[in-house]
Amino acid sequence: MSFPTIRMRRLRKNENIRRMLHKVTLSCNNLIYPIFVEEGISEPVEISSMPGINRLPIEKLVSEIRDVIDLGIKAIILFGIPSKKDEQGSSAYDSKGIVQNAVRIIKQEFGKELVVITDLCLCEYTTHGHCGIMENGYLVNDETLKLLGKIAVSQAKAGADIVAPSGMIDGQVKTIRESLDKEGFIDTVIMAYSAKFLSSFYSPFREAVDSNPKYMNRSNYQMDYRNPIEALREVDLDIEEGADVIIVKPALAYLDIIQRISSKIKIPLAAYNVSGEYALVKAAAEKGWVNEKEIVLEILTAMKRAGADMIITYHSKDVAKWLNE
Ligand code: PBG
Repeated sequence: MSFPTIRMRRLRKNENIRRMLHKVTLSCNNLIYPIFVEEGISEPVEISSMPGINRLPIEKLVSEIRDVIDLGIKAIILFGIPSKKDEQGSSAYDSKGIVQNAVRIIKQEFGKELVVITDLCLCEYTTHGHCGIMENGYLVNDETLKLLGKIAVSQAKAGADIVAPSGMIDGQVKTIRESLDKEGFIDTVIMAYSAKFLSSFYSPFREAVDSNPKYMNRSNYQMDYRNPIEALREVDLDIEEGADVIIVKPALAYLDIIQRISSKIKIPLAAYNVSGEYALVKAAAEKGWVNEKEIVLEILTAMKRAGADMIITYHSKDVAKWLNE
């Protein structure tokens, strides 16, 4: 019998040696925490399918964000829930809209302490729940573009550092870049949801912001998960149109997409660890079937290992606590 001369276990001998070899590590610097702000409520409202996440009244934002910053988190992404919706989603570009008001308050209080990202879409603001203008049951692309440009400018005026268009509307990055530049917002960053798939993993979010389409689904603008090549093309186009950062969404079932894209592009990539991914972990952890801390750290590290530079995640506050332990 011959014994091995090469022994992989030598480098696994103790904790300090193992730590020296880490190539991928999670850091608070790369976390983005989503916050839901709702018009017309006075107390936080729990989102039943997303334990630990609430819809917040604007009055509670400052104290919530103080906690977030104290934990070491550097960025949030804001979603607004308006009290009135209409066919055109007009409150999305109202200078006194819920997100615009929220950004102004946050920036006044925290300034450069926090990067403020605004989700840029119409679905939270339209009565039908689609991400644009509907005509005869079809989302009309170019009419929608005009509104996206207006939303971007209104969010930038309020003080958003980064706008994040999430509608998968053709040409949205170009239109938004042009609209921002025309108004002098040359430094507002565009973080584009470039590779966004039609997914069942979004259902808790749609409960959270009440944006479930009232008829049809989003299959003629979001991508089909059976067609990965399209994601590569979407990313190429968004980079050409001027995206500064791209988002892949969902993340956990799409690590192959994250890897393929990150190995090709030269701009930063954010993975969106979406509501359904969060809900699955929370439900299993509540039952005691998995160790929440260990499984979350493993999942998020896998996203970084696949090539994500940043992670948008509802677990951010917990992760920050665990990393600070
Ligand atoms: C659309 C938007 C969605 C999410 C973020 N932005 C929902 C959708 O496309 O239906 C989903 C986020 C999540 O599930 O956590 N504005």
